[in-house]
Amino acid sequence: MWCDLLVDDKTADEFTAYMKKFTDLYIVLSRSVKNHTTNPHPRILDLGCGPGLLSIEILKQIPDATVIGMDPLIKMLMLAKENTDTSGVPIFEPVLGVSEKIPLKDNSIDTIVSRFSLPYWKEPLDSFLEMNRVLKPNGKIIFEALNRNFPKWKLFGIKVGMLLNHAGRDVTKYHVDAYALAHTQEEVEMLFNKSGFAILEKEGKKSEWKFIIVAEKK
Ligand SMILES: C[S@@+](CC[C@H](N)C(=O)[O-])C[C@H]1O[C@@H](n2cnc3c(N)ncnc32)[C@H](O)[C@@H]1O
Repeated sequence: MWCDLLVDDKTADEFTAYMKKFTDLYIVLSRSVKNHTTNPHPRILDLGCGPGLLSIEILKQIPDATVIGMDPLIKMLMLAKENTDTSGVPIFEPVLGVSEKIPLKDNSIDTIVSRFSLPYWKEPLDSFLEMNRVLKPNGKIIFEALNRNFPKWKLFGIKVGMLLNHAGRDVTKYHVDAYALAHTQEEVEMLFNKSGFAILEKEGKKSEWKFIIVAEKK
């Protein structure tokens, strides 16, 4: 059912190689996760973790955390395990699953982070309700999303830039196509409001390629 939006193994490998050039993006987001995670020995869910590059940076920032990396693709989880093992970071737990039915207990997670996974979620509202279910009371979400309102001419610039930077055709297509499935900031705010969260912070302008929302479980 989910297969039509998931990448093949070759594209997953190429995506990993390309994104390893952009560690800074993951470091910035991991710092935000650290700032919003105050409990000792936190359990952090990286929802749609892909090859685990964000999970690695979170574990570097918060070494006493357990990061659960969840993804519906076995290939991505294998890459995430390989990448976290190679980085020598502590506890990373790969979990196979989808946002619509998170295979974790109620109130068991301190912080959720999700980066650029939303376009692939078949049932966004069910997924937000699931995030609410697994979070502890007052648990936070740091949610980074592609901006559906990003101007088309600027997206063309990104496409050309990726090709020139040797992303390859499949990875470029994976990224560019995601904008057609992406949401506006207002739509994501509505999802948070409908699923029992209070929005704490918003970052991003209408013309930027992405935005971040930080929210708390009510
Ligand atoms: C563009 S990648 C981003 C990966 C990672 N978050 C990063 O920033 O490097 C999107 C990820 O979401 C995963 N995904 C797709 N559908 C999903 C779903 N319903 N629930 C959770 N993850 C999903 C994909 O398999 C893929 O690994």
